[in-house]
Amino acid sequence: MEYFSSLPVFITLFLLNTAASEATCGFKACPDTKQNMINVHLVPHSHDDVGWLKTVDQYYYGSQNKIQHAGVQYILDTVVEELLKDSRRRFIQVETFFFAKWYSEQTETIQRAVKKLVADGRLEFAGGAWSMNDEATVNYQSVIDQFNLGLRYLKDIFGDCGRPSIGWQIDPFGHSREMASIFAQMGYNGEFFARMDYVDKKKRMEEQGMEMIWQSSEYLKNSNIFTGMLYNHYSSPPGFCFDINCQDAPIIDGESYDNNVDKRVSDFIDYVKTMSKSFRSTHIMVPMGDDFQYEDAAVNFKNMDKLIKYVNDRQSGGSQVNVFYSTPSCYLYELHQLQQTWPNKTEDFFPYSSDSHSYWTGYFTSRPTQKRFHRDGNHFFQTVKQLSVLANLTSPQHAEDLENLSQAMGIMQHHDAVTGTEKQAVARDYDRMLYKAIVGAENSARDALRSLTNLTSGQFESCLELNISVCAFTQNSANNVVVTLVSPLAHASTQYVRIPVENNNYIVTDEKGREVPSEVIPVPWQVLAIEHRSNDTQHELVFKATVAKIANFLIRVLPSPKSVDHEYFPIGKAMDETDVLIVENSLVKLTFDTTTGGLKTISMNGLTENIQQSFGIYKGFRGNNGEAKNRSSGAYVFRPNGGIEILSNKADISFYNGTRVKEVHQHVNEWISQVIRLYEGVNRVEFEWLVGPIPTNDEVGKEIITRFSSNISSKGRFYTDSNGREMLERERNQREHFDPDMSEAISGNYYPVTGQISLQDGEKRLTLLNDRAQGGASLMDGELELMLHRRLLSDDAFGVGEALNETQYGTGLIARGKVYLILDVATEKPNHAERLVQHELDQHFWKFFSKSNSVPHVNKDMIPDFTDFPRSVELLSFEQYSKEQILIRVENFNTNGNVVSFNLYPLFTSLSGYQIWETTLDGNMKLIDMKRFKFNQDGSGSIPSSVEYFYAPHSPLSADSTMAASEFVVTLVPMQIRTFIILQKPIS
Ligand SMILES: *[C@@H]1O[C@H](CO)[C@@H](O)[C@H](O)[C@H]1NC(C)=O
Ligand SMILES: *[C@@H]1O[C@H](CO)[C@@H](O)[C@H](O)[C@H]1NC(C)=O
Ligand SMILES: [Zn+2]
Repeated sequence: MEYFSSLPVFITLFLLNTAASEATCGFKACPDTKQNMINVHLVPHSHDDVGWLKTVDQYYYGSQNKIQHAGVQYILDTVVEELLKDSRRRFIQVETFFFAKWYSEQTETIQRAVKKLVADGRLEFAGGAWSMNDEATVNYQSVIDQFNLGLRYLKDIFGDCGRPSIGWQIDPFGHSREMASIFAQMGYNGEFFARMDYVDKKKRMEEQGMEMIWQSSEYLKNSNIFTGMLYNHYSSPPGFCFDINCQDAPIIDGESYDNNVDKRVSDFIDYVKTMSKSFRSTHIMVPMGDDFQYEDAAVNFKNMDKLIKYVNDRQSGGSQVNVFYSTPSCYLYELHQLQQTWPNKTEDFFPYSSDSHSYWTGYFTSRPTQKRFHRDGNHFFQTVKQLSVLANLTSPQHAEDLENLSQAMGIMQHHDAVTGTEKQAVARDYDRMLYKAIVGAENSARDALRSLTNLTSGQFESCLELNISVCAFTQNSANNVVVTLVSPLAHASTQYVRIPVENNNYIVTDEKGREVPSEVIPVPWQVLAIEHRSNDTQHELVFKATVAKIANFLIRVLPSPKSVDHEYFPIGKAMDETDVLIVENSLVKLTFDTTTGGLKTISMNGLTENIQQSFGIYKGFRGNNGEAKNRSSGAYVFRPNGGIEILSNKADISFYNGTRVKEVHQHVNEWISQVIRLYEGVNRVEFEWLVGPIPTNDEVGKEIITRFSSNISSKGRFYTDSNGREMLERERNQREHFDPDMSEAISGNYYPVTGQISLQDGEKRLTLLNDRAQGGASLMDGELELMLHRRLLSDDAFGVGEALNETQYGTGLIARGKVYLILDVATEKPNHAERLVQHELDQHFWKFFSKSNSVPHVNKDMIPDFTDFPRSVELLSFEQYSKEQILIRVENFNTNGNVVSFNLYPLFTSLSGYQIWETTLDGNMKLIDMKRFKFNQDGSGSIPSSVEYFYAPHSPLSADSTMAASEFVVTLVPMQIRTFIILQKPIS
């Protein structure tokens, strides 16, 4: 193979050929391999964090290099230049955010060159989402969205050759089963990663179990997916880092006293021989790269070229090692061809532990307010996407505003963003970015609502601080305020709505002018006391609303004197006859011990259970010199110094006894308080916690949990969700494949909880639902805990280089949030009612505020009818996919064996549909074209005579407007998600 001496020459050469050339990406572009040899697939790559120690832009432009030397634009510049020099060279690009930014800045000539590299399979996309998302703290809806975004971009620019077929999750700190399931549902052939419990990894290396077949779903057909654990993290082999950031020697092959070819080649051959002992096949994959490498890619490629040449030269002398440039998809292609069998994997890879004292379970909770903000971002994103489709917003500005929010949400899924493991300055930049994107998308929401209602000049403002009862719109007066409620859910939903108001007498009316019963209730004084909270509104107006997509309510102040229809009193004065306080609605009864102020029992769903709830503090170690045994809790790691301190001191309580809502306000200490709440007709208990500023004047970091203790005999078992979808069974001190190192018995039993955690015995089931990702555990039978907040004074020495000591207004950050409790009869499968609640909590009514003295109407003819959807079917996505294309994603969240079906025809016609087809989960590939590798599992019997594939798990829906309605029937098995594109006009 000849080397082209200069770039311009080569570009001219191939430009002459592009028109005629056929795309040869995919397996046709894979390198030749040799039988009876160890085939070493060198995979050049750079791990480019979408923000961590530096902001995304600092990483892209290469500024602030004193913090970390990294400049992604130069990486892409030089990699492309080097790839063009030799057709054997390969590179994988992972984070589409960075790629898209770079590509948009290139000349047409370079863009064409890049297209050619992609078409030839020399530049390959792996992963391909906007960022490499975390797997513990993300919600599946956001993950699907950011794959939709990244893969759509790649498809638009590169067509089929731009579509990745490999998940490349090399850095996230543990791996979820739902992520594997998402890859399978997108048609990926497999996924690779590099972090696994160190005991598990050691065992798998010994027993050749590094690569396996993950059964990624309990419910879905064809959900098995090949999963590979990398050997040496995602780094080049020790001594073979040829990057400008490394100190390893180059290959010196000239006539020089320093000539090191023999030594380097022998070292490399030794390394791959040792490595291959941990793998089953004659192929091994060796990543060549690390964080932000290839900034001067000539250095990397020049030395790899030499390494390849000299290692392969040894073959003539009998060496059995064959090395070449490759990609993960080519590596997996070879494994698939081999027809070997692989071990099974059914659970997930949490928690991740890197040594005896380092369970990476702190990041499940780190930066609790950012985790909540990102959930709000998703909630608003879904709301605006739906409104834009309903109102047919098609202007470029609207599309751009939504695209910006989509990109900001993609960035937020990054494994140093939503995880809370970035530096403080970077966290601020993420918040700024998401906030700006939300504000931009508010314009779309407003314009949509102006056309969807007859309030054509309504403001339709959002309030982002409702969690602390602050809303600029109602701050001075809530008189003649219209609240427009928008529900992203498919079905009509009934929820209580709370609006910050002054203490006045209000009347709420619906669109028909009917009065809606309401009441005004006091905001806890601890919330009012939050410094820098504007303190005009000290009450909340509460009313019950039923909404199918959109509904308007008008609030007016009544001139009559303040009503005194509610009681609010401190316990001990008004209730001192008895030492038990009973708080009940028609469905739930709570008892409180008035001597301690604590919860005693809960009765609901025909059951009664002793349930105590308390707050607790894990205290930290002081200092850290980077050694494992001295390690302290940090952004990543949770490592308490000894046991928990339960705050069992007497909590002051007061009781608000309203008609629609009953609240017990608990004052636990100067920086922890809580509202325990029941709404009439709602079958759950709400615990709204307020924690912070966490004091650190004793120089000790603290992690705050809420704990629920019952007598339910759970026998060490509990259940946590995987990214908000399927549940996984956990067993205290146990793992699926290995005996864990339980030196850290508390931290090592923590799991990510992004939606719910449950436990049960033969009779009762106790479930907690949360409002953001948190760490959770069941450390004793009958007991569940969630970590709410953390304030730490030392770094945990895993790279971020800062203590997670969040402050605001000069003091520790205050966080507020909710935990919901349901006590129910034990079930065999996860309870479907709980999932319904989870959807209602995640996608509750979004409130928009306008000034008006009459109540507006919704233009009902613009709202499609979703009443055909079965009760267990949720509208997971409803959005503009491209001009004239609408994406619809539906999910059956019922786990109980029932197949449901319904007809999409009414929706299709109401959207002026012309054609409809089904796609893979991400929305970018026709499902009929899905074909992905099926591998053989250990113990599954004889091996088939030829390689096998998975195709669409059912016959994909495909229809057009000339066809009968019966062609539009959609059937969903339990937990199935199906994705459709509706084309509104014929493609010209
Ligand atoms: C949406 O708006 C576009 C452009 O304004 C128009 O051509 C199209 O017919 C509208 N679609 C629907 C379904 O109303
Ligand atoms: C792996 O899973 C397959 C399919 O469920 C099963 O047939 C096989 O027995 C399992 N192998 C082992 C070793 O458990
Ligand atoms: Zn990373």
